Amino acid sequence: MEKHWWQRSVVYQIYPRSFQDSDGDGVGDLPGITRRLPYLKELGIDVIWLSPIYQSPNDDNGYDISDYRKIQPQFGTMEDFDRCLEEAHRLGLKIVMDLVVNHTSDEHAWFVEARKSRDNPYRDFYIWRDPKDGREPSNWGSCFGGSAWLYDDRTGQYFLHLFSKKQPDLNWDNPKVRDEVFDMMHFWLKKGIDGFRMDVISLISKDQTFPDGPAESTGYTSFNIAANGKHVHEYLEEMNRRVLSNYDIMTVGECSGVTLEEAKKYANLEGTELDMAFQFEHMSIDDDPVTGKFTEKKLFLPDLKEVLSRWETGLEGIAWNSLFWDNHDQPRIVSRWGNDSEEYRALSAKMLATCLHMMKGTPYIYQGEELGMTNYPWASVSEFNDIDSTNNYKELVEKKIMTEEEAFRALRRRSRDNARTPVQWDDSKNAGFSEADPWLPVNPNYKEINAKAELSDPDSVFHYYQKLIALRKESDLIVYGTYELLLPEDPDLYVYTRTLGEEKLLCISNFSDHLRDFDLPDSFREGKVLIGNYGGWKAGDPIRPYEALVLKI
Ligand code: GLC
Repeated sequence: MEKHWWQRSVVYQIYPRSFQDSDGDGVGDLPGITRRLPYLKELGIDVIWLSPIYQSPNDDNGYDISDYRKIQPQFGTMEDFDRCLEEAHRLGLKIVMDLVVNHTSDEHAWFVEARKSRDNPYRDFYIWRDPKDGREPSNWGSCFGGSAWLYDDRTGQYFLHLFSKKQPDLNWDNPKVRDEVFDMMHFWLKKGIDGFRMDVISLISKDQTFPDGPAESTGYTSFNIAANGKHVHEYLEEMNRRVLSNYDIMTVGECSGVTLEEAKKYANLEGTELDMAFQFEHMSIDDDPVTGKFTEKKLFLPDLKEVLSRWETGLEGIAWNSLFWDNHDQPRIVSRWGNDSEEYRALSAKMLATCLHMMKGTPYIYQGEELGMTNYPWASVSEFNDIDSTNNYKELVEKKIMTEEEAFRALRRRSRDNARTPVQWDDSKNAGFSEADPWLPVNPNYKEINAKAELSDPDSVFHYYQKLIALRKESDLIVYGTYELLLPEDPDLYVYTRTLGEEKLLCISNFSDHLRDFDLPDSFREGKVLIGNYGGWKAGDPIRPYEALVLKI
């Protein structure tokens, strides 16, 4: 198998609004990121994925772009960006940018033109339809609540928006759209960026007959109809031929609704489309069939093992996995599947890290995950900022699917805002994030949980991540070994092996808060502990609450 640098890399995601403010407006920015690059170097990561920094009216915090070639003024200038990229490269760090081209903002010049008249040259950049029986052209829902169609008075047609009303979907079937997008990608790549993370790229080829979904259609059901459309692989191959293959870069597609069979195409090792795909099956195993992610349902570990193992073995030798627990759309993993009590927070954060980082694929760390940052203790609905949380809350309550109390509890657990509170740098005012009141509140636990404290504690979550990252750098077994799951039915322990030639490792993670007996396979009796979150374990010992242990022979 051909080897690639991104297979040995660890990626760190920055959500710029919440990373580091430098000009005292309560919003993170590019000079703030530049200032913190040495911290990332110390952590040991290789690649930064930068969430959108482009000009945007911020309806969806930058995922609604009004100019792909300009920097959002709140984040700084193009010079600030160039300096950040240069400094990252000087430190040996790469920067991958977010590419959001399933949709634009409604304030993008293309859409401003498109909505002027039916015969405007930009009309076909978007997806317009006449009303059907005086109503929406189909029953598709938007992911952020309500219909996916919005009626535009001026021209008497509806346009499609799978996300907010201010995020009209681009029409990828129009070759001019592809030309413009590819041209813009060259613009950034010529600046020297190191690749793209492609936002909801699996949605770009819609069935333009717009078949109705099930009667109770929601955003997520229409999303699944739109995902992996007829021409998506054709368009990505075209993108690869015309753009990607001309540079030594890394690409990862956010492939919402992707199946294993589809991922084999998106992330095929022949390199005709993308390098990796993000799949979300494991992120929805604790979802509810009706309310989706807005639920308090708990994790059932065998389900998680089944999904991740299917992806690990299913893509073996065919495509490359991307590994993640957290990102800007997910609540904090230590609060979700770990235990954020004082007693177990650090231990369970390390256990989750071990379980993920010893798998096959490229690991992604989301800002603050390396500190074991937790969900925010939301006290009322009015504190939420995210459009996904506020819109869906309203809809769940209005449609009487949940009571106010239930919907609030579900939001507390799963809202995207949990990931978006400012990074906790130290124990000074606003956790060292900003001089001013931050756009989203700082978690009050910043006095105990912050980067400064963790850097000076050799036993911290930060230093544990640092070790995991370093181990991957020096081990072909961790990067290329094959994966095998043991004990699929065990409700507490996640146990798997990795094998490469004569070398083998065993990774044991206890997802529970109790002591567990464990029959060590004979072949690992003589194994040596590569890393663990407790210390002092010997063959035959039980596995302690939230213990993680990696043995190597
Ligand atoms: C992706 C992004 C998410 C955004 C959505 C619409 O899922 O990760 O943050 O809201 O696309 O762009």
